[in-house]
Amino acid sequence: ATVTYDFDVGWVHANPDEAFNRPTIGINGQWPIPPIVATKGDRIVVNVKNSLSNESTSLHFHGLYQNGSTHMDGPPSVTQCGIAPGSSFTYNFTVDQPGTYWYHSHSRGQYPDGLRGPLIIHDPDSPHKDLYDEEIVLTFSDWYHDLMDGLLAGFISIANPSGAEPVPNAALVNDTQNLTVSITPGKTYLFRMVNMGAFAAQYVWFEHHTMQIVEVDGIYTEPTDADMIYMTAAQRYSVLITAKNTSDANFAFVGSMDQDLFDVIPDGLNPNVTGWLVYDNGKDKPAPQEVDAFEPFDDFTLVPVDKEEAYSHVDHTVQLDLKMDNLNDGANYAFFNDVTYVAPKVPTLYTALSTGANATDPAIYGSNTNQFVLGANEVVEIVLNNNDPGKHPFHLHGHAFQVVSRSDEEAGSYDASNAPELPATPMRRDTILVRPNGNVVLRFRADNPGIWLFHCHIEWHVASGLIATLIENPLGLQDQLAGKIPQNHLDACKTSNEPTEGNAAGN
Ligand code: C2O
Repeated sequence: ATVTYDFDVGWVHANPDEAFNRPTIGINGQWPIPPIVATKGDRIVVNVKNSLSNESTSLHFHGLYQNGSTHMDGPPSVTQCGIAPGSSFTYNFTVDQPGTYWYHSHSRGQYPDGLRGPLIIHDPDSPHKDLYDEEIVLTFSDWYHDLMDGLLAGFISIANPSGAEPVPNAALVNDTQNLTVSITPGKTYLFRMVNMGAFAAQYVWFEHHTMQIVEVDGIYTEPTDADMIYMTAAQRYSVLITAKNTSDANFAFVGSMDQDLFDVIPDGLNPNVTGWLVYDNGKDKPAPQEVDAFEPFDDFTLVPVDKEEAYSHVDHTVQLDLKMDNLNDGANYAFFNDVTYVAPKVPTLYTALSTGANATDPAIYGSNTNQFVLGANEVVEIVLNNNDPGKHPFHLHGHAFQVVSRSDEEAGSYDASNAPELPATPMRRDTILVRPNGNVVLRFRADNPGIWLFHCHIEWHVASGLIATLIENPLGLQDQLAGKIPQNHLDACKTSNEPTEGNAAGN
């Protein structure tokens, strides 16, 4: 089937924490914006009209592989030009992967301003389909009272020499702080949880109920119990929760922002958002416990249902040494291998499609895109060394990667000669927490020709240039997409292409 959405993107007003009314980016005059919902095998068509009047926009469908459709992936300067104010643009692709995803603007600062929502792909063949009665989507996010434009200007300024990221004003669940979920005793629920935040990871727990994890980032897992989950920006978890058999009481559930991420904790910040499982409307809604009453679950231990084995042989290693720095010119920079990403004028995809045999030469993609050209079907390993005392949630477009190694904090750089044993059937996902001064090793097969970003999902760090570009099988890509870029995509490049991603100081 084809599911079609007509999205008119424009400014509205919203006050989700009932503390501050602010301009917010909505769709069709509404905010929260609608979920995208489809079934495995469907074609999704999203007709976008940009009515923002002041800036270009884009949509990215986070976690979808876009196999054969990298030109529908969304990031401006990478796979398309930004959609200028007043113009229209169509995303059109099929989706074969079930699970819990989300969609968001990939234009600078726009998703924290409101342009983000859940994207759910149903699966008639889910291995867990007989285990639950109903499903409920829970989106968690941080929330700022100020607009990103002003916050970004302050973040990247001489007045912020330490590079401290702006701290959110509030946390939200389903874009409110007043969520109640009606529960029927004895039923089992599938909660599809998404962190749509710009910055804060959240600890999530349900008082006096156990979560059973069955999916992470679109990958089915062997059912695994957890008391509390640590969900970074952009990660998703589906959990089964079986309701109690009586309706004697109601129970809180909580998203609690990880305050370790914040350089300064503002007075009066409430890091929590609380919702309630309501068994009986006439009864109290009790306050929850504190976050340290629980131990967070370690996602490295999860086992995918398909038991895909670890790639034991690597064809191509991409090593990325991460560094954050302030070059004493008032801008906050982030680097991979001493290069901060600056968006190219021509989208990297269009360069790959128009350069014939030269498309395999990394040099043609410029000197600021942290570009790596991957050969067809290579097993690729990304070694990421975090030379920074902060936590970073890293996301790869176009693939779910095997997490073959993840160090504790302060472990320093990865040492291949002293590598830990490979997990037999490693966890796969598309967004992974990298610990302070630690490292991760990720593997995947380059079987999806395309231009795929690899970046920290903290929006502040995107604006500091913490992005690499993987150019996967560019010659295969030329064959695949020859003559297939729609005219409305090409036309987008004739109009404005701001704001784009990448180092805001360098643009
Ligand atoms: Cu949520 Cu570059 O993506």
